[in-house]
Amino acid sequence: MGRLEGRRAVVTGAASGIGRASAELFASEGARVLAVDRPGADLAFDNPAIVTLAQDISEDAAPGAIVAKAVDAFGGLDIVYNNAGVSGSAPVGETSDEAFDRQIAINLRAAFRLSREAAPHLVRSGVGRLIFTASIMARHTDNGLVAYSASKAGVVGMMRTFALELGRHGVTANAILPGAIATGMTAASFQHDEIAALWAKKAALKRLGQPLDIARAALFLASDDGGFVTGQALGVDGGLMLRV
Ligand SMILES: NC(=O)c1ccc[n+]([C@@H]2O[C@H](COP(=O)([O-])OP(=O)(O)OC[C@H]3O[C@@H](n4cnc5c(N)ncnc54)[C@H](O)[C@@H]3O)[C@@H](O)[C@H]2O)c1
Repeated sequence: MGRLEGRRAVVTGAASGIGRASAELFASEGARVLAVDRPGADLAFDNPAIVTLAQDISEDAAPGAIVAKAVDAFGGLDIVYNNAGVSGSAPVGETSDEAFDRQIAINLRAAFRLSREAAPHLVRSGVGRLIFTASIMARHTDNGLVAYSASKAGVVGMMRTFALELGRHGVTANAILPGAIATGMTAASFQHDEIAALWAKKAALKRLGQPLDIARAALFLASDDGGFVTGQALGVDGGLMLRV
């Protein structure tokens, strides 16, 4: 028996990296999963328990379309994993309104709107779970990350409010704070051995994270194992934050 037997999940940003690993792990543990990513992204999966939706999550109609598709396909919704995200790097003085707004729109606003839309279904579920992928940059920062850090810190603040308001209905809400993970987002940096080695060395565990490292944490939060955990920002970073 899988740890998510009978559960119905949405995972955003599911074409690549952490989202793909999570959609596949959730499905392998018995969940039916709606895998959402941008039009044109690779949404091919081997597991028939995964259905797909090509949808830009930042569009106005996205929350309605995503929740309707999940409810049509599965008859309800138990888990929403708000994982899709974008990054960008520019000094404060060179960060345009457009770049700032784009990161807030995708990383924060879209996650808020989808969670708000899904909330009544999570309440109905009885075992509702909201999960967000924030970042260690919600707590820390680096040069060039003004918009990214703002968006991820916002995710953590938002998550706590969902946790507080929905807790009485049995819904948990938590955020995962990944460290340096080898995914599509970081490929351009980590293809350089010296940059990959630098980030691996910063972590107590002396390696980069893999998408499955984060997916396993999401599985914990999504499953009954995480049933009394709510309002938490969980670092899954190999010990990177110990001395950032
Ligand atoms: N890789 C890391 O080191 C790291 C560290 C901390 C946090 N994160 C966070 O992890 C999450 C997943 O990123 P990843 O590292 O797996 O990168 P990734 O680029 O491999 O995956 C991100 C996915 O999100 C999708 N996406 C982006 N904008 C979208 C939109 N508007 N609509 C629908 N889908 C959209 C992309 O198409 C992509 O498939 C992000 O929120 C990211 O900020 C990553």
